[in-house]
Amino acid sequence: MTAASDPGVTAQNDAPEPATGVVLRAEGLTKKFGQVVGLAGVDLHVGAGEVLGVIGDNGAGKSTLINCLTGALTPDSGQLYLDGEPVVFRRPQDAREAGIETVYQTLGVAPALDIASNLFLGREIRRGGVAGQLFRFLDQRAMQQKAEVFLKQLGILTIQNMKQSVETLSGGQRQAIAVARAAAFGSKVVVLDEPTAALGVKESNLVLDMVRQLRDRGLGIVLVSHNMPNVWAVSDRIHVQRLGTCAAVLRPQTHTMSEGVAIMTGAAVV
Ligand SMILES: Nc1ncnc2c1ncn2[C@@H]1O[C@H](COP(=O)(O)OP(=O)(O)O)[C@@H](O)[C@H]1O
Ligand SMILES: [Mg+2]
Repeated sequence: MTAASDPGVTAQNDAPEPATGVVLRAEGLTKKFGQVVGLAGVDLHVGAGEVLGVIGDNGAGKSTLINCLTGALTPDSGQLYLDGEPVVFRRPQDAREAGIETVYQTLGVAPALDIASNLFLGREIRRGGVAGQLFRFLDQRAMQQKAEVFLKQLGILTIQNMKQSVETLSGGQRQAIAVARAAAFGSKVVVLDEPTAALGVKESNLVLDMVRQLRDRGLGIVLVSHNMPNVWAVSDRIHVQRLGTCAAVLRPQTHTMSEGVAIMTGAAVV
């Protein structure tokens, strides 16, 4: 698909379509909160095997945008497409079932539980037969084994003991668990809202490495961040959100961070 033949690509978003195809597309999303405009008609697309960075000042509509993509909010108008098919998400569960996982800024991990239990929180594997079906016993061993496979795949080799409770892990390791959970269950798209906001440099790099691995596995990634170096380091394209609209879509190769920030704050116009 070329940009020219695709009605979803506007002048402000004229980057070529990703070679592998668009996995998630939003067209004309609007959302009002009473008189406050959260989104005023936003287009966005992310390809399979692509990282789309999202930057914007406070109040620009980043969270509203993410929430509309992940079923936490239903837009007033506009349309989402997953693999080209129109979809409507009325709640986060709908998006998850469709293959879109979200890592929220406030870590959705349960500190007192072990790593495997955190990975499977809300999606526990039950034992077979009466024990699982009637008494809802969990298959701890299956969860441990699967957790190990996931974490090995993602290269989180520092987390040795799956039975260790999450409260004994560092911030970066906890965030890694949250990303690993999204990676384990997100079959199409992983959305990350400020995943490195509370992390140090080393820990941020761990999370960014995971983002790259997910991209290399063919997932579409939407990464919201205030950290410009992080965004420039991992994004294939960067969506600049401003005053409820998309002010520009940039590439790290063609725009510097300061140019991006200038567009974000309105000091420069595309
Ligand atoms: N639940 C809400 N109720 C009222 N106004 C909201 C709500 N959520 C967001 N807004 C408003 O919508 C605009 C966009 O907010 P938001 O998406 O949170 O921006 P960002 O995440 O970029 O900081 C802001 O003006 C914000 O005050
Ligand atoms: Mg926000």
